[in-house]
Amino acid sequence: MARYPAVTKAVIPAAGLGTRFLPATKAIPKEMLPVVDKPAIQYVVEEAVAAGLRDILLVTGRAKGALEDHFDRDPELEQALEAKGDDQRLARIWEPTELATVHYTRQGTPRGLGHAVLCAAHHVGSEPFAVLLGDDFIHPDDPLLQRMIEVRDQFGGSVVALMEVNSDQVSQYGVVAIEPTGTEDVVALTDLVEMPASEGGGVWGVQFRGRRFDTGNPTDYLRTIVQFALERPDVATDFLPWLRKYLDDLA
Ligand code: UTP
Repeated sequence: MARYPAVTKAVIPAAGLGTRFLPATKAIPKEMLPVVDKPAIQYVVEEAVAAGLRDILLVTGRAKGALEDHFDRDPELEQALEAKGDDQRLARIWEPTELATVHYTRQGTPRGLGHAVLCAAHHVGSEPFAVLLGDDFIHPDDPLLQRMIEVRDQFGGSVVALMEVNSDQVSQYGVVAIEPTGTEDVVALTDLVEMPASEGGGVWGVQFRGRRFDTGNPTDYLRTIVQFALERPDVATDFLPWLRKYLDDLA
């Protein structure tokens, strides 16, 4: 018998203004920017689904309609591809529609990440839930969320993912004070900056040493698409020799 209620829901805030990516994000949500040929938000939803969470709540806002369209059927496009017999592309446009049950709520005014999560209160009720950011994901081969859910099942309370960063980057993130727990990758949080103190059951941190991708600003976005392009044999075959030559020519 599990000691704590199972986590089945994921909340994904995607209502931010994306000001670091203007003007691209004036009319397009930054969560829809493609990583090779799939929008960032689909990687995020796939990450939740891979951890067993199939009830997804997207927190959206104005100018975010493309997010809803992406996870919905598109009969006209389906018919066009069917008529051409293009089964491969048909399968690819079905993928996002069949991944999970996706619900939506709106954050009327983008009042910050904490407020976006609060907008999920009605949907999640008193159940435990995972929060993933709409423009930030973990490499599919590095199962962080599964591990966080296991830690939650074992320790209860709240669980956050932690990564070590260089001291010159500290100001960009929330910072924690920790104590060991006896479990190699799990620490107890004793203090946090930039986050309110949590109540009940303690706050635990899973120390993550895998690959995290941020697509919310132009530089990190470029790093992300180059890495994913090089992992895709169909793209890398042409792209890698081109990239090598381009860099050689620069040197
Ligand atoms: P960010 O801080 O990266 O988003 O939030 P932002 O505010 O859109 O970015 P900039 O600084 O203006 O470029 C991380 C995630 O939280 C969501 C964003 O959409 C993103 O997926 N978010 C942020 C909300 O849902 N609501 C908010 O009020 C703020």
